[in-house]
Amino acid sequence: MDSVPQMSRAAVLNEFGEASRLHVTEVLTPVLKREDEMLVRIHATSINPLEWKMRQGMGLPPLVWRRLLGQPMILGFDFSGTVARVGRDIQGFQVGDEVMGAMPLHGTYAQYVLVRPSDGRTAVVRKPKGISHEQAALVPFAGLVAYSGLVKYGRLQTPSPQARILVVGASGGVGHLAVQMARRGLGAACVVGVCSSRNADFVRGCGAHEVISYDRTPPEAIVSSHPDWAGRFDLIFDTIGVEAYWTEVAPKLLAPNGQFVTAALPPSRPGRPGEDVSPLGVPPLLLKLVRRHRSGRYHLIPGLLGGLPSHSGLPVIARWMEEGKVSAHPAAAFDLEQIAEAHQASEGGRTVGKLSVRVA
Ligand SMILES: NC(=O)c1ccc[n+]([C@@H]2O[C@H](COP(=O)([O-])OP(=O)(O)OC[C@H]3O[C@@H](n4cnc5c(N)ncnc54)[C@H](OP(=O)(O)O)[C@@H]3O)[C@@H](O)[C@H]2O)c1
Repeated sequence: MDSVPQMSRAAVLNEFGEASRLHVTEVLTPVLKREDEMLVRIHATSINPLEWKMRQGMGLPPLVWRRLLGQPMILGFDFSGTVARVGRDIQGFQVGDEVMGAMPLHGTYAQYVLVRPSDGRTAVVRKPKGISHEQAALVPFAGLVAYSGLVKYGRLQTPSPQARILVVGASGGVGHLAVQMARRGLGAACVVGVCSSRNADFVRGCGAHEVISYDRTPPEAIVSSHPDWAGRFDLIFDTIGVEAYWTEVAPKLLAPNGQFVTAALPPSRPGRPGEDVSPLGVPPLLLKLVRRHRSGRYHLIPGLLGGLPSHSGLPVIARWMEEGKVSAHPAAAFDLEQIAEAHQASEGGRTVGKLSVRVA
């Protein structure tokens, strides 16, 4: 059995706020507390915007985040690494296996993490053959959000050769995986990606049949510029939270049974994209969400609340990766020591694909 050091490195968050609050330091290496746990030596992780939003204390009092994150507070959802220890009740994995996965709220900005495969929020599978740890760690969380947007909340079948899908934010972490899954995984008949004109070629390369550049064709103009699209879309998947896709585009483009799925909360102020939750904004936001929910076709992905198909989705995604149908685009790579820079890069909001973090 390989030796596991008593102390190992992790990026610890001491206080909520700026990226500079993240400190890479020595922590006690976690030890198995249950027989259904395994310890994974992490080789790579990646950045998801929800992680820096948590670092800022997104929408909740710090006390709540502290309880959710435990001590020391270590952020990070994604991991790719090697199994270092297994409990007696672990089935299907053994020491030395190379695995990838995602666990919201579990702290993968670290050399070691405890993984409980039977937990409903934990997604873990063998790392697909021929895929590096850096590449593998880019996919699990964003990939599960993309997959759930299409299949679980978007209600598409695998495959869906007749489907017509519009993906908003098609160049981002979730969006570029959703476009690939829609086209190459589900085999959809028509995948339209919405992105800025500078990313149009990238989104076409991900498999979009057509691209709408939002800086040239705003949401309100999509229907008039494509009259043949009226009432013909099975799914609009908004990964940004731009109000007009629900208020203006969905009523015109969606087929009678078409679904609208969003990864980001609707904005609480006009003209802003989603997820700017302030305490004052909570009651009107809840009212808005209830009204939308009652339409029967509006779905907000509750990724932090255990709403991802962790057990059923990641094996499908891993197979698509192994078949070369889905791969994450590495926008930039950082070392764990540069985690604050990686957060700042993500906060810029212009990431094309995903940001990778190597954990030596
Ligand atoms: N509900 C959940 O469980 C859940 C899970 C995962 C993610 N999320 C949220 O979903 C959002 C997307 O996540 P992500 O990882 O995909 O983020 P990301 O990678 O940081 O998204 C960046 C991309 O968004 C594009 N973009 C920005 N404004 C846009 C607009 N108005 N229209 C179209 N594209 C636009 C940017 O392209 P340009 O530079 O070309 O504009 C960039 O490529 C985040 O807010 C995240 O917090 C929620």
